[in-house]
Amino acid sequence: MPDHTTSPLLRLSNLRVSYGQIEAVKGIDLELHSGELVSLIGANGAGKTTTLNAIAGILPIAEGELLYAGERINSVPPHLRVVRGLALVPEGRGIFTRLTVEENLRMGAYIRSDKAGIEADMQHVFEMLPRVKERLHQVAGTLSGGEQQMLAIGRALLSRPKLLLLDEPSMGLAPLFVEKIFEVVQSVVREGVTVLLVEQNANLALKFSQRAYVMDGGLITLSGTGEALLHDPKVRSAYLGEAA
Ligand SMILES: Nc1ncnc2c1ncn2[C@@H]1O[C@H](COP(=O)(O)OP(=O)(O)O)[C@@H](O)[C@H]1O
Ligand SMILES: [Mg+2]
Repeated sequence: MPDHTTSPLLRLSNLRVSYGQIEAVKGIDLELHSGELVSLIGANGAGKTTTLNAIAGILPIAEGELLYAGERINSVPPHLRVVRGLALVPEGRGIFTRLTVEENLRMGAYIRSDKAGIEADMQHVFEMLPRVKERLHQVAGTLSGGEQQMLAIGRALLSRPKLLLLDEPSMGLAPLFVEKIFEVVQSVVREGVTVLLVEQNANLALKFSQRAYVMDGGLITLSGTGEALLHDPKVRSAYLGEAA
């Protein structure tokens, strides 16, 4: 279990993010401790992707504070957040479809210059994701959705993240691949990477997460252990497809 007496790896305080006049994230507090798997669930349009993109630095923060490893990083550019160990696997995966699988993977290491370390991490990703290795020289656009998702995760791992942000990794995948993705996420966590997981598959996300936050209309409306939320009647009726 993570040690909650130490300072969190990530802390959002009253975070607000807007698209022009539209405020999509309306002042949220969220924290992650080292080693945790925490999920963020909620309906379409709740503000989950906006939150992840603001943490990754792709969207500017209008108000509030983003603390990472004890430092305020509100204005740190995205690539320097990657250097510090913050990696995002974006919604829709963001694979370069015309490049090969290997070229895509190596893109993940673009911020690094430690050649031996990169090769070691490539081997490690191959062990974790044998399907990716089998297709190394294939053009990425020819992979199935599930394989592309694994490639996107592998690419993020090549930046040697401390904190991995995953945006709907199981979206649109066949059940077998959904299961496989959750297995990969768990093995990443076992290796000591902290994970913030956005998922539409609330049932699986809550089952595997230590803690979770529920987002609705740009606000966090509920939080607790995965176990507690899984049994919360409000969560069950709103997100797990059960009659209230
Ligand atoms: N590029 C954009 N421009 C304007 N509004 C956006 C943009 N992207 C998202 N939104 C709006 O922000 C809100 C939150 O969206 P999003 O973060 O994508 O939600 P989620 O990931 O939870 O489905 C929604 O109301 C959405 O319509
Ligand atoms: Mg989204």
